[in-house]
Amino acid sequence: MRIGIGNDHAATDLKFAIVEYLESKGYEVVNYGTDGHDSYDYPLAGQMVAQAIVNKEVDCGICICGTGIGISIAANKVKGIRAACCSEPVSAALAKEHNNAQIICFGARIVGLNMAKAIVDAWLNAKFLGDRHAKRVGMIADIENN
Ligand code: RB5
Repeated sequence: MRIGIGNDHAATDLKFAIVEYLESKGYEVVNYGTDGHDSYDYPLAGQMVAQAIVNKEVDCGICICGTGIGISIAANKVKGIRAACCSEPVSAALAKEHNNAQIICFGARIVGLNMAKAIVDAWLNAKFLGDRHAKRVGMIADIENN
């Protein structure tokens, strides 16, 4: 599985740690974020990861900024993308099971490395449950299309 990752300056160190963690588990990771600590506008990275999913360059994505909020809002502006900002693993699993979120987001100023790993694991290991949840995800697409 190919995972796109994007971040701003607030999340560079956590991004590198998560990339290392994912690669140690055998995932291929494509980096769309900044590797520096100078100010970097999170909408750019959120859009790049989201667009890479739409373009099928990657299968899913991880977006990290200071809070996870700004980059999730940006990613969600790309048509067809469902990006969920989570601070713990229960919500992260449900973001896949119920919402089929293609992108998980979290905040480098909000969660530590162990919590970030738990969020990523919960989301990657969960499966979309379909059925009534598929209908609701379809209703979200309808909002986007109308
Ligand atoms: C950058 O200072 C900060 O605003 C950004 O990382 C993020 O938290 C925005 O939502």
